[in-house]
Amino acid sequence: MQSMNQWQADEYDNKLAFVSGYGKSLISWLQPQEGEYILDLGCGTGDLTYEISVAQAEVVGMDASPDMIRRAREKFPDIEFVEGDGHQFETSKLYDAVFSNAALHWMRSPRLVVDSIWKSLKPGGRFVAEFGGKGNVQIIVDALEEVFEQHTGIRGSERNPWYFPTIGQYSNILEQCGFLVRQAYHYDRPTRLADGEQGIEGWLAHFGGDYFEGLNRERIQEICRETSQIVVPKLWKEDAIYADYKRLRIEAVKPEN
Ligand code: BEZ
Repeated sequence: MQSMNQWQADEYDNKLAFVSGYGKSLISWLQPQEGEYILDLGCGTGDLTYEISVAQAEVVGMDASPDMIRRAREKFPDIEFVEGDGHQFETSKLYDAVFSNAALHWMRSPRLVVDSIWKSLKPGGRFVAEFGGKGNVQIIVDALEEVFEQHTGIRGSERNPWYFPTIGQYSNILEQCGFLVRQAYHYDRPTRLADGEQGIEGWLAHFGGDYFEGLNRERIQEICRETSQIVVPKLWKEDAIYADYKRLRIEAVKPEN
């Protein structure tokens, strides 16, 4: 039988393939060069790590989930993948660039993450990332937290696992660490969900685990169903639900001196 996490790696590769699909355009900001040593932080099942390797860069994929790493190694046996936490990783060989797509919003202590990235980069090294920005999936979060609170009496925001900063907030953290911010861009990216009107329930099942800890299966299903009832009329367009994703894309450099 598959574990919950193996199921999540399957989902990631199937219904959630848009995560790395959208991330491909971020590689145009990275511009990997032949021979460069690059870290893909929060690599998931490795699709973008592979895309970076196509430029003949030497790339390492890192993810906190052992199941994502296992799947990435199966898919791309020639690439190095390691388990690691973005808040506290170290490297014996400094990177030319650190890349990260759709992962940093899961890391709730951004100063620690930025500090680890800084220490792992060569002088002149670049940091290119995209993740959820201020207001990301706000319609879904508001509905989920309202319904969650009605069912449990617990404030939904106490369980919120995500960090969605503004350009200003994140640039400030980068600059305090010593980075020079070269480009920053906050934009709306409505994202089509699979499974028609059931799309929100699937999305919550994959991403909403922190809210549901300690609740029984029936209660979780009720919360997901009621959240979906609030959200679908707001996000349905023509043929599908388009989740209200907002991205923050950023490029920063560690100055030479
Ligand atoms: C995102 O990619 O923006 C995201 C994914 C899961 C939960 C919240 C946001």
